[in-house]
Amino acid sequence: MPRHVAIIMDGNGRWAKQRHLPRAMGHRRGVEAVREIVRAAGDMGLEALTLYAFSSENWKRPAQEVGDLMGLLKHFIVADIDEFVENGVRLKVIGRYRELAPDIVALIDDAVARTSENSRTTLAVALNYGAQDELVRATSAIAARVAEGSLAPADIDTDAFADALDTADMPPLDLLIRTSGEQRLSNFLLWQCAYAELWFTDTLWPDFSRAHFAQALAEYAARERRFGGR
Ligand code: IPE
Ligand code: IPE
Ligand code: MG
Repeated sequence: MPRHVAIIMDGNGRWAKQRHLPRAMGHRRGVEAVREIVRAAGDMGLEALTLYAFSSENWKRPAQEVGDLMGLLKHFIVADIDEFVENGVRLKVIGRYRELAPDIVALIDDAVARTSENSRTTLAVALNYGAQDELVRATSAIAARVAEGSLAPADIDTDAFADALDTADMPPLDLLIRTSGEQRLSNFLLWQCAYAELWFTDTLWPDFSRAHFAQALAEYAARERRFGGR
């Protein structure tokens, strides 16, 4: 059983296109898949689940689509926060989420505060997230500590660096899943993927179910991890 699984939830647009529906419908069904997978993670007692919901590059999409995604995000937080509180899910956000609209930032801060004592599963949602940006922000934070004299350059090691990342309080990433057949990282968790197992499926995100998730975990369990040893 992995401790920490991350998912690049891709393929909402293609799911909608296949059905001659607007892309927004694909995103809406994508939220349903998120709900099912978060519940599954809780039921399985997974320690941490990180979901790529909106990348720092997704701003390049048409304003209408960005607006649809933000609307769905808002609705998701409002509709699901009580279930998180009840089910012991601690909500966390990674990425520059403070650059989102003020009402969304307020909802996020409230939801994070309300679930901060939960310890069953940590759900980290990546919003306005880019791994290169995360690495640069971490470097900047470390440089600031060096400049103020609280950290010596010689004491910057991989642990100190990991502690400066958005994922600082999370277990190491064990498994990365990407749906929709694409086999790339798209600027997601570049540092954290160092020794993660990668699992790709052609299934489009809105079709991704508990059964697919279980299959990924079963295949992960059958793999031999070496971490450079033999
Ligand atoms: C993933 O689905 C959702 C987000 C990136 C927000 P896409 O919207 O990327 O769907 P495709 O890749 O166009 O099918
Ligand atoms: C990655 O998917 C981002 C999210 C799933 C939120 P994209 O659809 O944006 O990635 P590319 O453009 O295919 O690399
Ligand atoms: Mg995509």
